[in-house]
Amino acid sequence: MMTEKTQRQLQDLEKRNQQAMAGGGSDRIAKHKKGNRLSARERLDVLLDPGSFVEMDRFVTHRCTNYEMDKNKVPGDGVITGYGRVNGKIVYVSSQDFTVIGGSMSRTQANKICKVMDLALKNGAPFISINDSGGARIQEGIESLGGYADIFTRNTIASGVIPQITAIMGPCAGGAVYSPSITDFVFMVKNSSYMFVTGPDVIKAVTHEEVTKEDLGGATTHSQKSGVAHFATEDDKHCLLLIREMLSFLPANNLDDAPILPTNDRPDRIVENLTTLIPDNPKKPYDMLAVITECVDEGYFLEIHKNYAQNIIVGFARFNGRPVGIVANQPQVLAGCLNIEASRKAARFIRFCDAFNIPVVSFVDVPGFLPGKDQEWNGIITHGAKLLYAYAEATVPKVTIITRKAYGGAYIVMGSKLLRSDVNLAFPSAEIAVMGAEGAVNVIFREEIASAADPVKKRAELIAEYEEKFSNPYVSAELGYTDEVIEPALTRKRIIDSLEMLKHKRDIIPAKKHGNIPL
Ligand code: HXC
Repeated sequence: MMTEKTQRQLQDLEKRNQQAMAGGGSDRIAKHKKGNRLSARERLDVLLDPGSFVEMDRFVTHRCTNYEMDKNKVPGDGVITGYGRVNGKIVYVSSQDFTVIGGSMSRTQANKICKVMDLALKNGAPFISINDSGGARIQEGIESLGGYADIFTRNTIASGVIPQITAIMGPCAGGAVYSPSITDFVFMVKNSSYMFVTGPDVIKAVTHEEVTKEDLGGATTHSQKSGVAHFATEDDKHCLLLIREMLSFLPANNLDDAPILPTNDRPDRIVENLTTLIPDNPKKPYDMLAVITECVDEGYFLEIHKNYAQNIIVGFARFNGRPVGIVANQPQVLAGCLNIEASRKAARFIRFCDAFNIPVVSFVDVPGFLPGKDQEWNGIITHGAKLLYAYAEATVPKVTIITRKAYGGAYIVMGSKLLRSDVNLAFPSAEIAVMGAEGAVNVIFREEIASAADPVKKRAELIAEYEEKFSNPYVSAELGYTDEVIEPALTRKRIIDSLEMLKHKRDIIPAKKHGNIPL
């Protein structure tokens, strides 16, 4: 039988718990939840498996006394932290509560976040941060800045060791934007989240430009224009469910293997549609996304950075249950050329896959690097080198399928065997050459064409001759640069054969502090 003292203690605990659960109070919560937004606790309910959340530091309060802040204390201090499960696997989480002093970052709030980050790193499990905050707690002055710095440091140390994901679900401004940006994937919610280093008011004062918050740093802007966000989601729920989906592809840490899911899709399934998908005319575009979805398990592909640098496609899929990262040129956009944005997008994705033992499968149809002053002046040389570097340094299994064009430097870059790729396959329609036939004859036969009786006819003859000689996969196959020229219908089977063959791949690069990727 419970004693009176125990009863009192339990009642006291219950009262304190209720106080913490109430956050900034019902009025602020009601205001916050307008327009499909969830409360900080509801967000964790959606993200985590039901009943799995264990909260830590629920009763932590700030220690600031400036501006009578000692009279404004809410248990938890504007962030909910702890651990739970996603698809049965442990993850560590923080969720800022905008209803408590605007979710602003106090020294104690930062300490709470750092505590779970340390646990995530020590125990090798993903860290997911849900951000919704007015930034540094103004009343605390630079103490809160120290807190941000501690988080940035942990983000950096944990990079490549555990997956780190950020969901931006409200304001995120000033230096606060840099934690998300160090993490591996940034999810934003349309029309209710924004990120910028300086807001519209400062911009107006300094540059006289007028811009809205949404236009400057909303989900659409960052997922299309800057590439800062990998996903622009419809609402809070969509965002959190998508994070669960992404986690289903990821290992817990860099020493773990990605989870294999059972599939009903046969590994030797013949992909008949691929026989007719690549147009005869090499100038005609087709949708590389269709090639990917035809091949992968159950046609399921989680595309990342869908609306940014659409000339290259990246994302996760599975082959015979095993997660892979897919990188593919998209002939429908800029003819699949590589440019600055595409190089940066794919390079960072490949490095993520390599850090977390996820094989990289590349589908190639690339006419080259995008020419132009804009590209050169903005450093396509350095940015293109990032992609080359990422492919070359990656030690995970790398399987590449060339569907059509693979010209020049872009051929080398896009997961060729020349850059330590393990398996290179080519369709009979592949054109693996130094450059396209038209460009080539213009350079090497300039004088013959100019002096011919009928220059147009002569040029056409020379192009046909060059195509016959070089625009095919067989020169490369003769040299062993291409391992096999395959019937397109066999693509799925051959990719799975290759991944199976490479299952125990061991590849090491010399020990070093770290490489010096051309940033
Ligand atoms: C303390 C804050 C706060 C902050 C908001 N609040 N931001 N308190 N520090 N940074 C409080 C408000 O006083 C208010 O309290 C409550 O949170 C809700 O804020 P509202 O302004 O009513 O909400 P809303 O109208 O939705 O506007 C949201 C907002 C605005 C646009 C984010 O609050 C805002 O501009 N906040 C300040 C942003 C900022 O300049 N932060 C510092 C940036 S410097 P009550 O009691 O009225 O409910 C920085 C450096 C980081 O962050 C560097 C890292 C290296």
